Amino acid sequence: MTKTTIRADTPIARFMRGGFIIRDARMGRVVCVANQKGGVGKTTTASNLAAGLAKAGQRTLLVDLDPQCNATTGFGGTPAETHPLVSEAALAENVVTTAVTNLSLLPGSRSVRDVERIAEEARDGSMVLANHLACGLHAWDYCLIDCPPSIGELTRTALAGSTEVLMPIQCEYFALEGLTQMIEVIRDVMAARPGRLSFSGIVLTMHDASLELTAEVEREVRDFFGEIVFDTVIPRDVTVSEAPSHALSVLDYAPRSHGARAYTELCMEVRDCE
Ligand SMILES: Nc1ncnc2c1ncn2[C@@H]1O[C@H](COP(=O)(O)OP(=O)(O)O)[C@@H](O)[C@H]1O
Ligand SMILES: [Mg+2]
Repeated sequence: MTKTTIRADTPIARFMRGGFIIRDARMGRVVCVANQKGGVGKTTTASNLAAGLAKAGQRTLLVDLDPQCNATTGFGGTPAETHPLVSEAALAENVVTTAVTNLSLLPGSRSVRDVERIAEEARDGSMVLANHLACGLHAWDYCLIDCPPSIGELTRTALAGSTEVLMPIQCEYFALEGLTQMIEVIRDVMAARPGRLSFSGIVLTMHDASLELTAEVEREVRDFFGEIVFDTVIPRDVTVSEAPSHALSVLDYAPRSHGARAYTELCMEVRDCE
């Protein structure tokens, strides 16, 4: 059984379920795909959701903030020399188109020096980076931000520049371990800018309906987080993991696969959360 350090009746759980959001009607939705763990499906979810929303006619931008740049290369993009957050140029100048109609990409950068610079600026309490990010994202119906696997300054800046958080949770042992810290960070950002950031939901990834472990994790996550868990679960499906090596989303690589269908359904649920 999974080990969890947080229980459904804690103040954190109540805070996650509550909350309200005041959003400027002219502003698109900026969805921060975050979880401090690696390998839980953040990049996969950000990329396929972005592709699905674009295919549904939404002007969509995929923002790659992870220095691993998997979202960038997964659409055949080239990582930038300078990290988009510290580039002198406006974000829009670094945006590139993709093969998917309506989908653009803000490539990430592998520059370690830039990541250190971002951490320094953000530690000083500066909102410059978050504002730079938020201003650059105004022109889109949806921006999906792929975060690194940490709760460092890149993720904090992404949260501060977003209107909502979407957290993938992998159906595996220790699925909830460490989430308390992540939730604390989200709460800090919410408190710093009341009414801007909301919690759009939790998505269960790499779901295998034949495994008892998956059923246990799903039960635990749904008990703990309640209605903020999306009904759609993303199945473990090899086509999902193959698609980026062809520089495609799973929706184009294997449109009839279980993975493609699940991401299409998740898109509809995300759109319905508006
Ligand atoms: N639904 C899925 N089915 C099969 N493999 C998956 C699925 N989702 C993600 N993967 C694979 O799991 C690994 C981690 O996913 P990734 O999205 O890169 O996680 P993160 O961005 O959280 O580190 C990748 O190799 C990816 O291809
Ligand atoms: Mg990733």
